[in-house]
Amino acid sequence: DTILILNGPNLNLLGQREPHIYGHETLADVEARCRTLAAGFGLTLAFHQSNAEHQLIDWIQAYRVGSAGIVINAGAYTHTSIAILDALNACEVPIIECHISNVHRREAFRHHSYVSLAATAVMAGFGTHGYDLAIRHLAHLREAH
Ligand code: DQA
Repeated sequence: DTILILNGPNLNLLGQREPHIYGHETLADVEARCRTLAAGFGLTLAFHQSNAEHQLIDWIQAYRVGSAGIVINAGAYTHTSIAILDALNACEVPIIECHISNVHRREAFRHHSYVSLAATAVMAGFGTHGYDLAIRHLAHLREAH
C-alpha cells in the first residue's frame, strides 16, 4: 500500500526559506524520515514536490483511488486553488492536510483553506513532525478497516 505525500510551491526550499517559521530541516530530511516510518507500518511512500499547480493535480489524480491516503501540504495554493480542491474532492481515499506552521496565528489570508473543504483531517503547527503524525494516522485508519 502506498501513501502519497505531496508538497506544493516553495517547499523545495525547506531548511533555507524562513527557517524561523519552517525550521532547518530540508525536504530530503523529511522524506528520509517519513520513508523509514512508513516502512515500519508496511507502507510505501510516493513523496513529491512541485511548484506547479497542474503537476500537483496530476499526482492527486494518480492516487485518488486505491492508495492508503494522501498527505498534502499545498503551500500557498492551499489558500487559492479551487482546481486542487476539485481534484481532492474526486478522491476516494483519506486526505490529511498538513502545514508546518500554525497558519491560524499568521496573516489573515492564511486562515482560509480550500484544501480543508476536502480534508479528512488537518494538521498545522507541528513543524515537520506533522508529516510523521499524518502517516501514523493513515496507518491507523488502514488497520481500522
Ligand atoms: C504552509 C503555510 C502556507 O500558508 C504557506 O504558503 C506555505 C507553507 C506551511 O506548511 O506552514 O508555503 O503550507
